[in-house]
Amino acid sequence: MFGTIIKDIAVLAGISGILAILLVIAERFLNDYGDCRININGKRDITIKGGNNLLASLGEKEIFLPSACGGRGSCGTCKCKITEGGGPLLPTEKPFLSKAELEDSIRLACQVKVKTDVFIQIPESIFNIRKYTSTITEIIDYTYDIKGITFKLEDGEEIDFKAGQYVQLISEPYAKMKQRVSRAYSISSKPEDRNSIQLIIRLVPEGICTTWVHNYLKVGDRVNFTGPYGDFYLRDTNADIIFVAGGSGKAPIKSILEHLAVVGIERKMTYFFGARTLKDLYLTDEMKAFEKIFPDFRYEPVLSQPESGDGWQGKTGYVMPYFKDAIRDPKNTEAYLCGSPGMINAVCNALTDLGVAKEKIYYDSFG
Ligand SMILES: Cc1cc2nc3c(=O)[nH]c(=O)nc-3n(C[C@H](O)[C@H](O)[C@H](O)COP(=O)(O)OP(=O)(O)OC[C@H]3O[C@@H](n4cnc5c(N)ncnc54)[C@H](O)[C@@H]3O)c2cc1C
Ligand code: FES
Repeated sequence: MFGTIIKDIAVLAGISGILAILLVIAERFLNDYGDCRININGKRDITIKGGNNLLASLGEKEIFLPSACGGRGSCGTCKCKITEGGGPLLPTEKPFLSKAELEDSIRLACQVKVKTDVFIQIPESIFNIRKYTSTITEIIDYTYDIKGITFKLEDGEEIDFKAGQYVQLISEPYAKMKQRVSRAYSISSKPEDRNSIQLIIRLVPEGICTTWVHNYLKVGDRVNFTGPYGDFYLRDTNADIIFVAGGSGKAPIKSILEHLAVVGIERKMTYFFGARTLKDLYLTDEMKAFEKIFPDFRYEPVLSQPESGDGWQGKTGYVMPYFKDAIRDPKNTEAYLCGSPGMINAVCNALTDLGVAKEKIYYDSFG
């Protein structure tokens, strides 16, 4: 009886093993799509091995579409127009596409698998996005969970970006993490410093890229990134400006202010920085110093939960109730927001309630 059971188990294990091998072989042959052609803007053809997604296939050929979430289908930044090929629209794409975009054949490149020839259209500006290799020259602990890291480009290379734009850092394998991931980080240094960039990175518990940055990166390490990306930059108007940031959202606004200190500005600007406690504040003296540089600028740190030992004399609670005093004419006000999706949502609602037009509220959501 016992012997029969052992024999049956052995037969079942054998059959499962054979099935697994057959599946691997079938996968290899059935999913072999051979070489596929990607035609870009009707001008340029690239040939790639079929089977990968469009975002990664373009990346192989050093054509980098924005991909803030690193291809996980959660940011919607990798949009591109597909005029032929690409297969049916996936349910994962729909939430990110407006009715007009759907009608215009816009797709999420990270969700489209290249199995046949594909014809796509992308803005010419995408060809300015490049991959850079850099060496870390400085790491500063701004707070217990926020670091400022300076990356010097190799071989005297230079990067051309607008203050407020971001790059995508490519992590290297570490500990048990065998894969590389790509994550978006706003450049915190000014565009006039073309041979190096600084990023301000907050540790996300269990986060793949930020654990690598905080626990493994050291001065002298070589790091790759692509960029620049994004349309979060100061519009050239005469409107008053409200900046709002939380946590590492200070990064792109620091870049914008440092750039403005070089080129000069006459506009009225108020900068609200929301933090929980005193130990979450950083670069306060540097931001306050801009009050002496610009003719009409105020930096307002606001603590939502100051601790009794903090001795905090400044503003408390959320930043929103303080907007009213800073806005003299809502119709002639622009807002630039950067931080968590929750903060951005709440601030957007407060600003529109005060009469600031939705189209004049620009933001980078770090979610
Ligand atoms: C345009 C843009 C610019 C950005 N600029 C910056 C910047 O200058 N500095 C900076 O520190 N970050 C910035 N981010 C966020 C950054 O891209 C990453 O999402 C973040 O660092 C987490 O990456 P990770 O690989 O460590 O975590 P992941 O491994 O991606 O995520 C781990 C877990 O944490 C959650 N998670 C992901 N992101 C966050 C978050 N921000 N807060 C809380 N939980 C999160 C995930 O849902 C997941 O459960 C930016 C994002 C965007 C879209
Ligand atoms: S890269 Fe984020 S949705 Fe495609």
